[in-house]
Amino acid sequence: MSLLSFIHSQLFVEPPIPDHDFTGQTFVITGGNTGLGFEAARLLMRLNASRIILGVRSLEKGAETISRLKSSIGHTSAPCSLDMFELDLESYSSVQMFAKSVGTLGRVDGVLLNAGKVTQKFYLAEGNESTLTVNVTATFLLAILLLPVLRQSVTEGGSSPRLSIVSSDRHVESKLPEWKKSNTFAALNDSSRAVMDKRYHVSKLLQILMGRTLAQKLGDVQQGGNQIIVNMMTPGMCKSGLIKNLRGLFGAQTAVMSRLLARSTEVGARTLVAALAQGAESHGKYMNDGRVQE
Ligand SMILES: NC(=O)c1ccc[n+]([C@@H]2O[C@H](COP(=O)([O-])OP(=O)(O)OC[C@H]3O[C@@H](n4cnc5c(N)ncnc54)[C@H](OP(=O)(O)O)[C@@H]3O)[C@@H](O)[C@H]2O)c1
Repeated sequence: MSLLSFIHSQLFVEPPIPDHDFTGQTFVITGGNTGLGFEAARLLMRLNASRIILGVRSLEKGAETISRLKSSIGHTSAPCSLDMFELDLESYSSVQMFAKSVGTLGRVDGVLLNAGKVTQKFYLAEGNESTLTVNVTATFLLAILLLPVLRQSVTEGGSSPRLSIVSSDRHVESKLPEWKKSNTFAALNDSSRAVMDKRYHVSKLLQILMGRTLAQKLGDVQQGGNQIIVNMMTPGMCKSGLIKNLRGLFGAQTAVMSRLLARSTEVGARTLVAALAQGAESHGKYMNDGRVQE
């Protein structure tokens, strides 16, 4: 996506409100306590989802979120059961525990891998720089651990479970020179060479590459093989808490761009829900403005 098409999207395209009916369906949303994840949960409730599980770092914040969700929807939609399990993507054991709890649900129709971070501080979590751990390795560890429950939820002639990864259009800003190294992750984990102002972009590019690989490994859904649909999307630049800790020139540039171009999280979240509603044509594909746009 060129800079011009990004600006065009931000200023002139408003993704439509999805009108899909999610009656009877269960969803898992990581990072659902705020920002885009929160708005996606609200929209899914409006579209008749039956059950939503939030993956949250703090159960206290999660409980507040659940009551905010309930009161903001009122009685306008079909009743939706809301629940939460603890999830810290900086810890693989937490990811494993979370996946185990989700496995007990028996049925999951859609997983929104939305939790993510941007930071200029270099530190390791589970042996990798923390942005890579949260946005990439732990997110995909979770994706893989949730495949059994998603497979279990494939119904004969029914709807296919979705695994939707919230990426970003900013992935285009990374050329990933570490790709050419014999060990890309070791190169990215070298604190003396890490360009932290670009690290988020690297993580978002890796998400797309890994999402495509996962989709490929699961097989072609059109061929009647595996029926889990994996897709990736960008919500576009949205006003959320994501960039609040950025400092220096990068922080100032991002804040100015956000002020001039950003969508509301309510509008951005429509693209997350659009990915959950998208069919087999989105398998392994990247979505922008709520539709497949490679
Ligand atoms: N906003 C944008 O302009 C934009 C553009 C493109 C893509 N995105 C993507 O959209 C997704 C949601 O971002 P947002 O804008 O809604 O930002 P946000 O308001 O900062 O929300 C991020 C969510 O991720 C959770 N999270 C962060 N680190 C975590 C960890 N270690 N373990 C578990 N959860 C963690 C946060 O939980 P806490 O509340 O506990 O911190 C929060 O719920 C991200 O993947 C982001 O990259 C955003």
